[in-house]
Amino acid sequence: MFRALGRALGPVRRSGRANIGRATPPFRRRITPIAIDVCVRSRFLPEDREIETPAGTTVLDAAHEHDVPVETVCSGKGTCGTCRVLIRGVDVPPPNAHDRRRLSDQQLVHGWRLACQHPVAEGAVYTHPVGVRTVRVVESSGLGRIRLDPDVQKIYVKPAAPSLHDQSADWSRIQDELAAVAGDLDPTLEALARLAAIGEQVSEGVTIVIAGNRIVSVEPGDTTARGFGMAFDVGTTTVVGALMNLTTGEEAAVASGLNGQHLYGGDVISRMSVTMRGPAWVRRLTEAVRDTIREIIAACLEKSGVAPHEVYELTFVGNTVMEHLLIGADPSRISYSPFVPTTVDPVTCTAAELGLNVLPSAPVWVAPNAASYVGGDIVGMMLSANLGRRRGNVLAIDVGTNGEIVLQKGAQLYATAAPAGPAFEGAEISQGMRAAPGAVERVRVLADDVELDVIGGGEPMGICGSGLVDAVAELLRAGAVAPSGRLLSLDEVQTAAPGLAHRIIPDETGGAFVLSGSADAPETALKLHAQDIRQLQLAKGSIRCGVNVLLTHANLRAEDLDEVILAGAFGSYIDPAGAIAIGLVPDVGVEAIRAVGNAAGHGARMCLLSLTSRVRAVDLPARVVYVELSAVPDFQDEFALAMGFPAPSC
Ligand code: FES
Repeated sequence: MFRALGRALGPVRRSGRANIGRATPPFRRRITPIAIDVCVRSRFLPEDREIETPAGTTVLDAAHEHDVPVETVCSGKGTCGTCRVLIRGVDVPPPNAHDRRRLSDQQLVHGWRLACQHPVAEGAVYTHPVGVRTVRVVESSGLGRIRLDPDVQKIYVKPAAPSLHDQSADWSRIQDELAAVAGDLDPTLEALARLAAIGEQVSEGVTIVIAGNRIVSVEPGDTTARGFGMAFDVGTTTVVGALMNLTTGEEAAVASGLNGQHLYGGDVISRMSVTMRGPAWVRRLTEAVRDTIREIIAACLEKSGVAPHEVYELTFVGNTVMEHLLIGADPSRISYSPFVPTTVDPVTCTAAELGLNVLPSAPVWVAPNAASYVGGDIVGMMLSANLGRRRGNVLAIDVGTNGEIVLQKGAQLYATAAPAGPAFEGAEISQGMRAAPGAVERVRVLADDVELDVIGGGEPMGICGSGLVDAVAELLRAGAVAPSGRLLSLDEVQTAAPGLAHRIIPDETGGAFVLSGSADAPETALKLHAQDIRQLQLAKGSIRCGVNVLLTHANLRAEDLDEVILAGAFGSYIDPAGAIAIGLVPDVGVEAIRAVGNAAGHGARMCLLSLTSRVRAVDLPARVVYVELSAVPDFQDEFALAMGFPAPSC
């Protein structure tokens, strides 16, 4: 990925070579339909090749049609910024919105434009950087084989030593080396300060660090073999950060922490109700999550021995509310109709702006959101699960407090958000707990006994979400719970499942079933109460209702589904058979259900390690049709229907 250049290899203009790895099949696009027999002639440097192309052809397409390797990552959509060319010999066209977004003011003034955004002009001379990117396919921790083409590039240069005959500034001498390979890039203040600190050793060779189309750092000597970035999944409950090696794609360290905002409520709705108190409260929540991120960074750096100034870029995914709070924007309007966020676009800023303890000029990239309740974390999930490109009809669910659901029908994506409440996390369950040591995570109900798997072994202390799903699924199968969700009375169980009758504790709230211990000592027993089953019904009913609404919207039936993907921490632990048994997901067969773990976090890593993936993440929201459940006319009926359990199969 990183590249060494400089006088040791001869002057850059002579030694620079095009990166043919980027000369991917060109994206054919005509800007203006013009009679094809009208041709224009232009010249490309540094190849010094004159070409003739039909008028209206973009500079990028013209270059690719003649094998001039102008770089592209986004295939001409104007989103990657890698196709920049310097225009000479003609009037430089006015910059459009994509030029302004991807190029610096200085580049625009000097005559740089995006090759994909402008038609070739008669007599124009286009100079393109010869390319500093390399693309490799590597095995990355947890991501399998990925295309490693990070936004961060490092170039080693050895500028000429100054003398009384050449008093040009250090930066000018470096630019002379860099211009042909990297184009006209601006240094950040941080980079200039670091260059100044290197002082007279500059002519012994320095490494230029490029990220986000700027030079973010200058390091003494050749450090091209080393570079890091961090990818974060900012969850409402937990924040996970991974320090990734940008040269190998490997994970260097990972750390997680409870989101510091937990003091202000357990879900996004309560967090937003806090931010409604005023700007000081928004700042408080913003600082709380940034504190957590700083702690995670410190932990990763300590584990790996990586220095803060070696972390050159950071990517973030999170739900829309978390992303708003991360960047310091008040999310409270998302909480009430018509549920409007401040932005859903990707946000870029610097580590210094967020007060993060890495290289201050390191670019920060915050993933785009698809909608108010389908955030950057779900964009990350869609990216890592390759939604929109899989075969067949695929349903993907991130099961959590807020259930986010995406349905792929061919290339079309439909999404919705279903507020499931905290039951899947073991909260609001009478003896519920998080998936921690002591929690029951698996339940098997036999004819006259119950077997439990407890996290960490030992005595059961409570039941977590996956245990709850299992318990209800098993009691349904055993006939102790009716498809309506009612826990059968003692008399009824004596008939339907006599071996389990001694576990029923009747009471005026609907009774309880003893999972562990004895009904004769209810105060020490681990019990599943009728209200707990009700809570699970509400949670699963909300998600299943979302699934059903999306299927209807896409004109599909449950049996048309080819695959169901379960994401998120809970999704990884839930037993597929249990998910089908309680009707959380349609019955596609257990073999068609796949758990993908922390898919959102994987998406953040992909966006860090691969500019190609990042461009795709930016494209994904535009392909999503968002369905607002509360706007569905017969939502209440759908919800009531979805709360019921399927009749157990014999
Ligand atoms: S190819 Fe022009 S911006 Fe990506």
